[in-house]
Amino acid sequence: MKSKWWQEAVVYQIYCKSFYDSNGDGIGDLPGVMEKLPQLKELGINCIWFTPIYTSPQVDNGYDVADYKDIDPAYGTLEDFKRLLDMAHSLGIKIVMDMVLNHSSDKCRWFQEAKKSRDNPYRNYYIWHDGKPDGSEPNNWGNYFYEGKGSAWEWDENTQQYYLHYYSKHMPDLNWEYEPLRQEVYAMMRWWLDMGVDGFRLDVITSLKKPEGFPDYPGQLEVNGYAIGREQRCNVPGIHEIIQEMNREVFSRYDCMTVGEASRVNSVTGADYIRADRKELDSLYHFDICHRLPKPPTVLEYKQAQMRWYKTLENNAWLAQHLSNHDYPRQVSRFGDDTTYRVESAKMLATLTHTMPGTPYVYQGEEIGMTNVEFPTIEQYNDPYTVGQYHALTKAGEPEETVWAKLRPISRDNPRTPYQWDDSENAGFTTGKPWLEVNPRYKEINVVADRAMENSIFAYYQKLIALRKENPAMVNGTLEMLLPEHPEVVMYLRKTCRQTLLVVCNFSGKEIRVELPAEVKAHGWQRILTNREDTIPSLERSRWLPWEAEIYELRC
Ligand code: GLC
Ligand code: CA
Repeated sequence: MKSKWWQEAVVYQIYCKSFYDSNGDGIGDLPGVMEKLPQLKELGINCIWFTPIYTSPQVDNGYDVADYKDIDPAYGTLEDFKRLLDMAHSLGIKIVMDMVLNHSSDKCRWFQEAKKSRDNPYRNYYIWHDGKPDGSEPNNWGNYFYEGKGSAWEWDENTQQYYLHYYSKHMPDLNWEYEPLRQEVYAMMRWWLDMGVDGFRLDVITSLKKPEGFPDYPGQLEVNGYAIGREQRCNVPGIHEIIQEMNREVFSRYDCMTVGEASRVNSVTGADYIRADRKELDSLYHFDICHRLPKPPTVLEYKQAQMRWYKTLENNAWLAQHLSNHDYPRQVSRFGDDTTYRVESAKMLATLTHTMPGTPYVYQGEEIGMTNVEFPTIEQYNDPYTVGQYHALTKAGEPEETVWAKLRPISRDNPRTPYQWDDSENAGFTTGKPWLEVNPRYKEINVVADRAMENSIFAYYQKLIALRKENPAMVNGTLEMLLPEHPEVVMYLRKTCRQTLLVVCNFSGKEIRVELPAEVKAHGWQRILTNREDTIPSLERSRWLPWEAEIYELRC
């Protein structure tokens, strides 16, 4: 079967605020992206996902949308966006917008209206509730940002009711039970698609439907007796009807792609969002591998997660492959080695993402091996999640060191520091004062320095992306995991009826000896890619270097 364009695509995620600042105000912008499009074309990617660039007070860096049909003035104008869209299309690059449908900003016109009175026509666009008889919040739900005392409910003095906000109180949740809200949102999504955008990434899509009756949540009370536990908030019965309706009203009418941010799904519940016969979403990304738990998954867990999803989806559904994004640590710091073997491990991780079944996602900066950052003071952090949790934990009496040890490695500012273009001041990102400090390692890690190396990370990404275009097995091949129990080596076959590829990755900083499994012995394998040019191009050897990654093709 012919693949869809988004199955063959390689998606590059742009966090606009931190990409490239064209006018010296310290904030990345659309003209900046336009200036750098040729570099993305050179990289070979053919789709861009923009994290939200709509008008926004930036309480959560754009995930608080004030106007769903306009561009934030800090990023440019709608006209700039249309120019960018044309320019990208003429380079063969599609554009996917981030759709934030669980909540809006409190500055959104809908909310400004809704809070005027209980009988305002927009009142039911949001979720309002009376307090308990003693006046306290309707239930014990907490907000994810540990904001205020921690509740997910905010009292509105004017209309004498609480409204729900899973995130900041400046991000009230939208009421998906209400038909006029749904229709207005669908019309807005069609408006973007009519303009020519090519699809949507759907923010926290599994939580649009709220639990019936708003019950108190038992157990797991994180702050001041408020529960932030998420299970109850995601995948609530009724969610699929909403997404099916969205599909009928919007997606099915266009040749667009959709990718859902699917919190709290396992491979079985996740499949319900993306199996072709369900007519919901085209693909999703899950968090079985890329998650914020204190410890990253082991190599065995990585393999098991890939196999589990592959087996459950069986060719009926499609995944996004990613190891990081704007909410997660830099992948080379989290899964690789960001000092001695930074270059090798960055390439090894890319090899996995681009050869496992699904569409590869590249998060800006990953293609030059950008790393996590450690700012010394809380004032240097911006992420509301990090800042909120820092204050909540220190106030609760946790010692500073333990709080830092917990927060620094997973802070969402790690991936959000400005893109490192060169070794000039502010990494060449801006001539002004950057909205978030640059990572002090920019002198050593930047595009110019990387591309000047003989075997740069950037060049390796170029090769991987080009290989994907030439080798159908990388897109459509079956997945057969070899050495499934090996604690360090990830070895697998991708097969179509015409082609067999073998991927070997040493997912460790150790030199490894492996006995080749019978399936691959004594065949004619030709190496088509390696991240360790100093090795012999053959499978017939006993040692694999730290973080070594290779792809072979069966040639006889
Ligand atoms: C998603 C976004 C994250 C944002 C949250 C609320 O998880 O990726 O950045 O804070 O939704 O919109
Ligand atoms: Ca700017």
